[in-house]
Amino acid sequence: MMNFRISSPEQYEVTYRRSVEDPEGFWDQIAKEYHWFEPWHKTLEWEFYTPSVKWFIGGKTNITYNCLDRHLKKRGNKLALIWEPNDPKEKFVRLTYRELYERVNQYANVLKRNGIKKGDRVAIYMPMIPELAIAVLACARIGAVHSVVFAGFSAVSLADRIKDAGAVAVLTSDGLNRGAKQIPVKRVVDEAIAMGCDTVKRVIVTERLGWAVNMVEGRDVWLHEELQHVGKECPPEPMDSEDMLFILYTSGSTGKPKGVVHTVGGYMVYAGYTFLNAFQYEESDVFWCTADVGWITGHTYLIYGPLLNGATTLMFEGVPTYPDAGRFWQVIDKYGVNIFYTAPTAIRSLMAAGLDHVLSYSLDSLRVLGSVGEPINEEAWNWYHIHVGKERCPVIDTWWQTETGGIMISALAGISKLKPAHAGQPLPGIQPVLLDADGREIEGNDVEGYLCIKHPWPSMLRTTFGDHERCRQTYFSAFKGYYFTGDGARRDENGLYRIIGRVDDVINVSGHRFGTAEIENAINLCKKVVESAVVGYPHEIKGQGIYAFVVTAEPVTNPDLVEAEIIESVVAAIGKIARPDKIQFVSGLPKTRSGKIMRRILRKVAEGDISNLGDTTTLLDPAVVDEIIEGAKTVK
Ligand code: PRX
Repeated sequence: MMNFRISSPEQYEVTYRRSVEDPEGFWDQIAKEYHWFEPWHKTLEWEFYTPSVKWFIGGKTNITYNCLDRHLKKRGNKLALIWEPNDPKEKFVRLTYRELYERVNQYANVLKRNGIKKGDRVAIYMPMIPELAIAVLACARIGAVHSVVFAGFSAVSLADRIKDAGAVAVLTSDGLNRGAKQIPVKRVVDEAIAMGCDTVKRVIVTERLGWAVNMVEGRDVWLHEELQHVGKECPPEPMDSEDMLFILYTSGSTGKPKGVVHTVGGYMVYAGYTFLNAFQYEESDVFWCTADVGWITGHTYLIYGPLLNGATTLMFEGVPTYPDAGRFWQVIDKYGVNIFYTAPTAIRSLMAAGLDHVLSYSLDSLRVLGSVGEPINEEAWNWYHIHVGKERCPVIDTWWQTETGGIMISALAGISKLKPAHAGQPLPGIQPVLLDADGREIEGNDVEGYLCIKHPWPSMLRTTFGDHERCRQTYFSAFKGYYFTGDGARRDENGLYRIIGRVDDVINVSGHRFGTAEIENAINLCKKVVESAVVGYPHEIKGQGIYAFVVTAEPVTNPDLVEAEIIESVVAAIGKIARPDKIQFVSGLPKTRSGKIMRRILRKVAEGDISNLGDTTTLLDPAVVDEIIEGAKTVK
């Protein structure tokens, strides 16, 4: 186990202070706990204007050496990965550190055999099966840059991401299981590549469902056939600390998702450090993060963080409600899970399914519970704490982002004081500030402002792939000299942070981020639509729901039909996860004289709070607001 555990409130205080007074000394000491082929000669160089951030400069390492090779001697026979299939009757998989090591090396050799090399980008579009984790690690082993795309995204979304990254290969499977459904993953990949993904030379297909799929001669190969030809050893590629480790696409307030870039050294150091401290991981713990590897949470806390610490990580192929709403709790009992990390939306949906499901399991093994992805409301926090954690397990509410690489603000389990609906204090090494609209730091407690970070941390994004200016614009231009998170936050009277939510045009649906512009573009692809405006509104299960105001070319006579067409457009352009929950047909949108949509008004209408719409006199056509308010009453 690595030697950077904070084990008491007093130690937190001392460590935090040290991390602010001497950040470089602080991170230096932590980074030294990892294996480096060559040490770094300078800890940090940075400025937040261009921006340019480099950590552990000159250091050479490989994250998979730290996840696998380093554990072989002491933990070769310890379980590294447990895989629970979608169908509880199917056989589970357990891989020891030695077995995982071998599987990763073999897969890495398959990549090499197929011409994939250091620096190449590789798109991964796969179900939650062991080969997904193995594929990710295999890329990292040879220095190829992985770009995992959640396998619920549509062919169009996948194609956009493949093109933006210039991926030379796609790693996929024949199909996937999700609850009672089976989905033809390879077909989506074929469709995506046919949309002009000319850089793709290879598609490597893992067999999951045993389906006969279309295999393109000279391009597509089966993993199991390739494995026949390779050895069990593949030396880890020595990577520069600042070499790219992965790209992960995420939505912003503009229409196009951006490729957040993380680099090897800093991401590694931070992933291991935060896993150990936030969850207070112990050597014998079984850790379960329910996030899909298609999201940052799956990258950092299903794969890298646990493996860096030599932990046993559990991967689940299915959904929380299949075959019934007791599945999570059944799996916890089955494997004796000690630390469980999930999203508020999952908790709320299981809450709604009734207590019986949870009360029929013992859940005795649980020691720590975590939450991530969106604000957790007090009711869900309490339910999680009382009925899952039996009031015995600390619930940590971890705030972070794709761009931050790892947990930034969170209680340390069992050490920090807990307050429902509050993420709490920053981890040592993180310097959050609240800024006012003029970019001034708001001092003291019991205050609210724009959440920014004032000093770099090792796993912050370095750029947005292929477009550094976009990175500067998005994160470093609103407040000069700071990283801007896009979130608003409150610091309570004791200095604990509470995240209020996004202050930009990003909505968080079931813990997934979407730019409103992205959904509007998708809706506007529907031939009957002239224009649209999308806003979020409070949704009991999803946190936020998607509310679309749509202007059509012709008056709508059959709303159900047009709605279905709009939904089809969104599903094709983005995926099912971005389906609007409510659609309201309107004759026009509230716009200012300069043509800007007044979203503030639409948000209020969607929230059902029309008592205070603010000043509407500057609108081009104020009458439109009355029509919208009236129409909202009949929206299903
Ligand atoms: O608004 C915050 C919200 O999710 C955003 C980041 O989304 P994403 O990059 O997809 O990463 C999600 C998982 C790390 C943030 O800007 N968010 C995330 N965690 C929390 C949260 N909001 C409140 N409380 C949290 N614990």
